[in-house]
Amino acid sequence: MSKPILIRGGTLVTADHERRGDVLIQDGLITAVSNEDELDAPAGARVIDAGGAYVMPGGIDPHTHMELPFMGTVASEDFFTGTSAAAAGGTTMAIDFVIPSPQEPLLDAYTKWRGWAEKAACDYSFHVAVTWWDDSVHADMGTLSTKHGVNSFKHFMAYKGAIMCDDEVLVNSFSRAGELGAICTVHAENGELVFALQNRVFESGISGPEGHPLSRPPEVEGEAANRAIRIAEVLGVPLYLVHTSCIDALEAVTRARLEGQRVYAEVLAQHLVIDDSVYRDGDWDRAAHHVMSPPFRPKHHQQALWAGLASGMLQTTATDHCCFCTPQKRMGVEDFRKIPNGTNGIEDRMAVLWHHGVRSGKLTPSEFVAVTSTNAAKIFNIYPRKGSLDVGADADIVVWDPAKHRTISAATHHQNIDFSIYEGMQVVGNPAYTLSRGRVVYDNGQLNTERGTGRYVDRPCHAPYWAAQRLRNETAEALATPVARKRPTPEEG
Ligand code: URP
Ligand code: ZN
Ligand code: ZN
Repeated sequence: MSKPILIRGGTLVTADHERRGDVLIQDGLITAVSNEDELDAPAGARVIDAGGAYVMPGGIDPHTHMELPFMGTVASEDFFTGTSAAAAGGTTMAIDFVIPSPQEPLLDAYTKWRGWAEKAACDYSFHVAVTWWDDSVHADMGTLSTKHGVNSFKHFMAYKGAIMCDDEVLVNSFSRAGELGAICTVHAENGELVFALQNRVFESGISGPEGHPLSRPPEVEGEAANRAIRIAEVLGVPLYLVHTSCIDALEAVTRARLEGQRVYAEVLAQHLVIDDSVYRDGDWDRAAHHVMSPPFRPKHHQQALWAGLASGMLQTTATDHCCFCTPQKRMGVEDFRKIPNGTNGIEDRMAVLWHHGVRSGKLTPSEFVAVTSTNAAKIFNIYPRKGSLDVGADADIVVWDPAKHRTISAATHHQNIDFSIYEGMQVVGNPAYTLSRGRVVYDNGQLNTERGTGRYVDRPCHAPYWAAQRLRNETAEALATPVARKRPTPEEG
């Protein structure tokens, strides 16, 4: 049992409001929150002076890949190092992905990932990918959602020949998720087009990292986003798009939302601040470090993504943290198609968003909390246990010093990767303290995480009314008003 902690005199920021107050933490939970007045510290409590700081729900990164086996190698960041780096950056929960190989039973893969994650130092949960289909997948989706707290299923529309879903799998899986009250998530890129373009680019003589964005233009993402959205609309199920990187996909999301469809979309901090010029870097390693999918985009997409975030069309921010060190990236030195896809970011998301979002006036502190924590907690049904400062919530808290400077660098970061795609970026606004269920895991530059102290977080399915009802209502009306019609007889034909 950890000793009580009183966070005194900070500005409490939630997705709803900002006000001065104290927060008392006992046994890993928030047990009291004051309104202007001071709380008394219980005997033996540690008192953290938060004067001049913001006290906010810890970040939730809804998209990470720790120790992922992918493209012939394994991501270098494991669940301990990755959640520790997260804590150093103010993030207290990651939702990672179980990704079964084709034909691998979903429950077997889930059990394997749960084992890997036992070393985590902060709380975590899992989306489960559907990469193939048969009756056992249908059954396992039910077991995962009713017995294992999985309310989200992931679909890769790219990575042909590996984990890509075709439309048949999408339709089967979306239908099943609809029955269960789970949410479908998609990596939206047309994998057939990517495959054809990769080959065409390579055969035309481009083998370096600059071939990567050429083979995955925005239209490829826009088409897949629109297709997934339309499939979800027809089947009447909610949808969540991961790593929305371009105007084409954002437009598809915006149109669907304005039509009343329950579609959510995430943007990566990386896509908000880095553009595609990185692929033309004269240094092969530096260019290859940025190979991820979808790729970085021409600069004008960034402005649209910021507008999408500020206007609420994009609800969450993530990192897709999927680290491959330089020797791993060099697996593709002769052929950009073989460079493992993925970049770092879990330690830096909060500071990048504060610096480029809040300090520039694009986001208010409350909006920052919404897009870094609360909205993900609501969409994935763990609110207000996570993403809030409510009494009774888990004490996952970041005490944020808005004046603290940092220059991001691989030389000083805690992520298990030998470079940073943010190398040299100056960010003002960083964590002073991070608390994970009441334990001070980051204390003014000192990382105090412990292996295995993170807990798996169950995410029950939403109540059935949460699912989009449009088609079901139309179908119900059609069933209630059958068409009176005489069938032509064979003689009439
Ligand atoms: O390049 C990426 N994003 N790697 C991780 C797998 C994925 O597509 O999310
Ligand atoms: Zn992806
Ligand atoms: Zn991913």
